[in-house]
Amino acid sequence: MDNRKAKLAVIMAGLPARGKSYLSLRLQRYLEWQGYRARIFNVGAYRRESLGAPSSKSDFFDPREPVFARERERIAKRCFGDLAEWLGGAGDIAIYDATNVTASRRDYLRSECGRYGFEHVFVENVCDDPEIIEKIIRIKLEHSADYAGFGPEAARADFARRLGHYESVYETVSDAAHMKIINFGLSVVRAYGEERPFLDEIADFLGAVNLMDKEVFLTRHGETYFNCEDRIGGDSPLTERGAGYAGRLAAHFKGKDLVVFTSAKRRTIETASFFDCEMVVLPELNEINSGLCDGLSYAEIAERRPEVNEARNYDKLNFRYPGGESYMDLIQRVKKAVIRIEAEKRDVLVIAHRAVNRCLVSYFIPTPPEDIPYIEMPLDRIIRIARLNAHYGCDWKVI
Ligand code: SIN
Repeated sequence: MDNRKAKLAVIMAGLPARGKSYLSLRLQRYLEWQGYRARIFNVGAYRRESLGAPSSKSDFFDPREPVFARERERIAKRCFGDLAEWLGGAGDIAIYDATNVTASRRDYLRSECGRYGFEHVFVENVCDDPEIIEKIIRIKLEHSADYAGFGPEAARADFARRLGHYESVYETVSDAAHMKIINFGLSVVRAYGEERPFLDEIADFLGAVNLMDKEVFLTRHGETYFNCEDRIGGDSPLTERGAGYAGRLAAHFKGKDLVVFTSAKRRTIETASFFDCEMVVLPELNEINSGLCDGLSYAEIAERRPEVNEARNYDKLNFRYPGGESYMDLIQRVKKAVIRIEAEKRDVLVIAHRAVNRCLVSYFIPTPPEDIPYIEMPLDRIIRIARLNAHYGCDWKVI
């Protein structure tokens, strides 16, 4: 499957409070960051918009009530109809965020995908870890519009009844192309045939995401001799000033339960050498490959390769160094590190490079693609990224 031409419907499945919406949001971000047009179609939002507050009560989800059952089907179909219109047009990847707990609902969705010629995969969230479920329920009761008019106890009791209704008809996904995300990354079941690298990537990503409230810190290596000469690339060691920053950085994080990711370049490894915590070298964090310009200063590039300079100034996002990489190429490489960061349960410090850190920031904090190459990323600064909560993305601050 050519990823760029894919018309893929990712169809979530699972009981309420299993993290479907959270995984949908994270997947959408991951895909959009790579330049895909990805959109979430959330059946609950369609229901609220169409039927308002009365449909938030648990009675509405009682499978023994035929009138409500028909309404639920009608809304699910309308939502899928909009998905089909979008995916058949401008969209690349649509995420259908709904419980889809019955085989008959999934049969319908599968046959609709076939009719429209969409690839599809079911993503079932299976979770029996009471701590994870409790965490999701708390977020849901606090933030979902469904519970805005309830007191905390009434909300919890009504949600328990809603869950009971879904449990009474729940049939786990067993046929069709699917993956199962078990207990947020504890394990991932892949059942979609072989040679589906894009689905493997989605499974890797979804299997990495967890609900830990970890913080991610990004910094560049300390100053190098190349920095002093304004040269790019290379594998220069730290200057005395750079080593000073590395020492202060380690002191700043002392005592914190942290894992440090570096690139495979000497300057990031030297910067991390002052830490006494776990350190992981990830070559995918190496700086943008400047190809034939490696080792040159910006002044030398302007003088010797004015056409390179001009192309870079014209479209810095897509400009590819001759024999090297563009920012868009870099995102394709750095995404492996993103999956490693997502999978971590401890706080993470990434010691990397200017272009790499720009790409990483733009994953956590949605940034218009053309602005990515211009994100400020000076030496001697730490960027702290904290996930605000499961629904509201990330916050960031420069320290
Ligand atoms: C909802 O109406 O909140 C969810 C509908 C569903 O996915 O079952």
